[in-house]
Amino acid sequence: MAERNLDFDRIIDRKNTRCLKYDFAVKRGMPEDVLPLWVADMDFETSSYIEDALTERVQEGIFGYSDVQTPYFEIVRDWMVRHHDWEPQEKWLIKTPGVVFALAMAVKAYTDPGDKVLLQQPVYYPFSEVITDNGREVVSNDLVLTEDGTYKIDFTDFEQKIIANGIKLFLLCSPHNPVGRVWTREELEKIGDICVKHGVTVVSDEIHNDFVWEGTHTVFAGIKKEFADISVTCTSPSKTFNLASMLISNIFIPNQTLRRKFRKEMDRAGISQLSVLGLVATEAAYAHGDEWYTAMKNYVRDNIAFAKAYVEENLPGVRMIDTQGTYLIWLDFRQTGLTVEELDHKIIYEAKLWLDSGKIFGKTGEGFERINVACPRAVLQEALDRIRGILQ
Ligand SMILES: Cc1ncc(COP(=O)(O)O)c(C=O)c1O
Repeated sequence: MAERNLDFDRIIDRKNTRCLKYDFAVKRGMPEDVLPLWVADMDFETSSYIEDALTERVQEGIFGYSDVQTPYFEIVRDWMVRHHDWEPQEKWLIKTPGVVFALAMAVKAYTDPGDKVLLQQPVYYPFSEVITDNGREVVSNDLVLTEDGTYKIDFTDFEQKIIANGIKLFLLCSPHNPVGRVWTREELEKIGDICVKHGVTVVSDEIHNDFVWEGTHTVFAGIKKEFADISVTCTSPSKTFNLASMLISNIFIPNQTLRRKFRKEMDRAGISQLSVLGLVATEAAYAHGDEWYTAMKNYVRDNIAFAKAYVEENLPGVRMIDTQGTYLIWLDFRQTGLTVEELDHKIIYEAKLWLDSGKIFGKTGEGFERINVACPRAVLQEALDRIRGILQ
């Protein structure tokens, strides 16, 4: 059996497939005819091995309560070993219906109402939502955009914020959405050492770990035993294989006390088993998806290069931040002379594009736009042409 779904140029009509990206524009306040490059899912068909495994399971026709059996864990572990040089243990694993759900569980398990939780804005907006929606407060160690166009961590501010706010929990985004940084081992060590020193638990959201273009993804928990002991590592096949609606993620918590608290929160939320389709998809993806994954990655890498060249040549005043990781590009429009409102208005109503406006990632995201480039190149070109149109 060979992989069938390797034509990433093919434009697939996703309308009327119940998909958030295309079918809910008007409901979400956008014009009907916007071209969507916002939410982080891909416009590619997933691996045919996953399609086949799901089809076979669906044909069984019974969808009662399910759970994993051998070799689920072995397959997940082998992917981590193969791609991330990290070997998690079976007892560390807790499966959740999504990474954001896991973030919420962690906030509830490791902090009390009124506590402050640390993150690094601009960052994936559900990070702050799971904090404030659970009656906690956001404290941001804002990332610093340097002259050379890369984002850096202000470690002095990081430590001071921990001390000044009695921080017990830090939500790390690694690789970072939306700024595209792949944190180096040295940076992660500095973060970890500070957190160990001050007794801070680190939730490391590594959902973008399979999209690294420059450098190597370092699993925070894999750096040293002390880091494993204070961390919750969030992984999922959902970004890598375009399986977001399968609602499955693999969360690893080596420390028994942290694991128990997390599990208790899951019990309180009334969650025990997950959907069998997510389990089947995960196994198929990690066991047989390598060929598709490699081809998809090459395609997306070329899209990023295409976008970079396009922006440099055709979008005056716009700077594309170096995309070291993720399939989300981060464009700085602040030199265009447009206000945040003018920019958003032009993008939506003149270019007819549905992007993620930088402001939703925090104050420091204002004047930026995030574009999902995991789409056929022709679609990406169309989107960039439309942006060019509004800047003339
Ligand atoms: C950093 C990050 N975490 C989590 C998610 C979503 O995870 P899930 O759909 O599993 O809740 C995303 C999706 O874009 C993301 O970028």
